[in-house]
Amino acid sequence: MLHGLAALGLAATTRPVRPDALSPPDFADSFCRTDSVPTQRLFVAGNDGYLGRLAPRGDALTLTAGAAAGLPSELSTGSLAFTARHRGRRYANPTLVLQRGERARITLVNSLAEPTIAHWHGLSVDTRNDGNGSFLILPGARYDYDFEVRNRAGMYWYHPHPHGRTAAQTYRGLYGVILVEDDDERALRASLDLLPGATEIPLVLQDRRAGVDYAPSPEDLTHGFLGDELFVNGTHCPYFDVATRLYRFRILNAANARTLLLALRTATGTPVPFTLIGNDGGLLPAPVQCTRLFISTAERVDVLVDLRDTAVGDTLLLSTLAFDAMHAESALAAPVDHSTMGPAMPERPAAADHDHRGVWPEGAPQTLLELRVRKRVAYDRRIPERLSTIPPIATAGAPERPFRMGFAKSRWRINDRVFEMGVTPIEVKRGTVETWLLRNYHTSMPHAMHLHAFAFEVLARETGPDAVAALAVDPQGRLSTDLGRKDTVLVWPGESVRIAIDFTHPFPGPQTYMFHCHNLEHEDAGMMLGVAVT
Ligand code: C2O
Ligand code: CU
Ligand code: CU
Repeated sequence: MLHGLAALGLAATTRPVRPDALSPPDFADSFCRTDSVPTQRLFVAGNDGYLGRLAPRGDALTLTAGAAAGLPSELSTGSLAFTARHRGRRYANPTLVLQRGERARITLVNSLAEPTIAHWHGLSVDTRNDGNGSFLILPGARYDYDFEVRNRAGMYWYHPHPHGRTAAQTYRGLYGVILVEDDDERALRASLDLLPGATEIPLVLQDRRAGVDYAPSPEDLTHGFLGDELFVNGTHCPYFDVATRLYRFRILNAANARTLLLALRTATGTPVPFTLIGNDGGLLPAPVQCTRLFISTAERVDVLVDLRDTAVGDTLLLSTLAFDAMHAESALAAPVDHSTMGPAMPERPAAADHDHRGVWPEGAPQTLLELRVRKRVAYDRRIPERLSTIPPIATAGAPERPFRMGFAKSRWRINDRVFEMGVTPIEVKRGTVETWLLRNYHTSMPHAMHLHAFAFEVLARETGPDAVAALAVDPQGRLSTDLGRKDTVLVWPGESVRIAIDFTHPFPGPQTYMFHCHNLEHEDAGMMLGVAVT
């Protein structure tokens, strides 16, 4: 139905896609699950407190993983937090603002009653600093990180990574944002007059079960732990007052398992295009107009919303639209093609036809945030046509490594295997380029595949579901969110995604990393493989 959109191709991606070219979106009737009118103001982080911006500027920093205490009571943050103090200010889950090239010295203190370790998701560091679970610290112990920030500017994040406990600790509130800055980032802010905390707003999304601690059922473990309410920076169904200018929203999906289909609409339901300028790997080469995009767990999107054509009193709604979450139910009708999918993994996940009794099902719509236009202001900046330069990864002659994701013997697996600590089924030579072919079985569910330390390039998507193919922006089937660099890519049932990775790194000796599904229940149950880069 949306062939015209794919035909637009990359060259035309800065042109707005006509909203009427898209099928009518299926929006939530009511604002959110429990209220009809948002009454809570969006929590926006400042320079201290919850999610507060903390620029260490060379100072050594201590993050303590422990009970969340003293947070504003109107926030739903979970029972745990990373707390920090810096230059007289106190923080919980600080947003670490780091300059590219800066040395980061961070000590993690474990005040939990169980082992932990913190992972810097997306940062290109050596094994010792990766916090990937091969080193853990016991209650009361500390761990010193010391690394150079080598990444391009972008929104990265941090969360615990103790194998088997990652989901529980993250759900309970242990996660925070890392904002890396460089010259491209400064140029963008200057040209669009963006001010962090005022017109540039991070939105950290997490679905939670109200008043319930993390206690997954067997079904939750198979499909991922879903909440029944979506929180934005700890606020549920919030509103945010805006003026008639451009706003930048930097969105992190910190949910354990839930994928969202983000879209903007007017109060009467008309889709409103927005501009995608960045993703997991930082700024895209050029802006892309979108009307909706998928964001899986651990992915990030950086979007610009232009409110110049709105009037004081208007409202816009940021929502997740209805979509088929494909938890292995419907795909079973299609025969599995074993010739293309490799050895059979014909098992069907248990309880696939469940309805998650009482829980907000994945793929069901909900409004996340209401933007209320309060003030008319003069604003005449234009979105730059170039945002950054990303050289393509040279894949000529690169070996292709095949991966299959599927369910067998009651476990989600990669290439029939489950994770074993200290074992590295993926062995790569440093300095080489590889392409990886990530193939998901039809009898599967979407898996958000994440590789530590090496940002990759998505080369192509094939044979995905129609709802995904409909959002393709080029003949390779890539989505707007696939452009630039990535560290997490959602692979749908029946879909093949080809990625390119340059395994060049400057660290002495062999390094070990993880490749895994970022549905945290899948990861904890072993949908992860060790990667040795020798
Ligand atoms: Cu976000 Cu292996 O992690
Ligand atoms: Cu399910
Ligand atoms: Cu998964």
